[in-house]
Amino acid sequence: MEIYIDTADLKEIKKAKSWGIVSGITTNPSLIKKGYKSTSSSMGKYIKEILEIAGINCPVSLEVTATSEFGMIEQAKDFHDVYNKIAKNVVIKIPINPDPDNRVAKYDGLNAIDKIQSYEIPVNATLIMTPEQALLAAEAGAKYVSPFAGRIDDFLRERLGMDAGRNFMKSDYWPADGDLKKLFKISEDATKLTLESDEKKNLNQRFHIGIENIVKDSPHKYRFHDNGIYSGVDLVAKTVDILKDYKDVKVIAASIRNPRQVREVALAGAHIATIPFKVLDDIFYHKKTCEGAKKFKEDVVPEYEALF
Ligand code: E4P
Repeated sequence: MEIYIDTADLKEIKKAKSWGIVSGITTNPSLIKKGYKSTSSSMGKYIKEILEIAGINCPVSLEVTATSEFGMIEQAKDFHDVYNKIAKNVVIKIPINPDPDNRVAKYDGLNAIDKIQSYEIPVNATLIMTPEQALLAAEAGAKYVSPFAGRIDDFLRERLGMDAGRNFMKSDYWPADGDLKKLFKISEDATKLTLESDEKKNLNQRFHIGIENIVKDSPHKYRFHDNGIYSGVDLVAKTVDILKDYKDVKVIAASIRNPRQVREVALAGAHIATIPFKVLDDIFYHKKTCEGAKKFKEDVVPEYEALF
């Protein structure tokens, strides 16, 4: 799985790029608002700087602000004309449905994707909250689709009366450890019963069959999933699955809130995860890694040190 960084902060981009593991950048209007505050450049110069730091072969997703089909197409063409010369890395981000009221402009995202891709401008379809939205975007010709894992987790957690946010841990969904254990047991039994003859015995399916078994008698069972999507990672997994025959479309797991989600979306087969700097930073830490580093440092004998 490729790693992109989900930020428009120049310092964060530079730092993460210096590690040699970041192969793309995603931004959105909220990230631009935040990143722009810490520069003294004009907006144009600031965007150019992002593109320059990224460099060739490092796609940078920039989102349109228009919500009409015509507006989005014009912005995409203008943006691409002006900025793609810098490092040939501009990807235009188009919301699958740009209409906050889900009324007149709700089809404009899809129409815009269809037209923009026909000008050979790569499109990242954003605000994907269901695999079926991803399917439409892929059919329209999007090169990337971005399912928003963290926001779906927030949505589910809010419905269960829990806090939203980046401190989410998957086990928080469940009232107690005992329930989790029960969940996994039932999940394995369910797998045996229902999936034995099926080739698709992946963990994701087992996990969610388990959840369905646990909550099936609960009066609140509808709250545990969003129309059959049980978590942000499940959204990514099902998006990967639904698009498995779309060889030219890459699934970017977006709205990532913690290292565990990074692991789980990788296991789910996401082509890319776009990760905020703080989450990348969190991946470095493990208590035992730091303890190990301390011990190795203490144990260096002078004769060994002298070799370097
Ligand atoms: C995707 O490309 C978006 O920029 C991003 O991942 C949104 O994440 P958020 O839900 O943390 O704002």
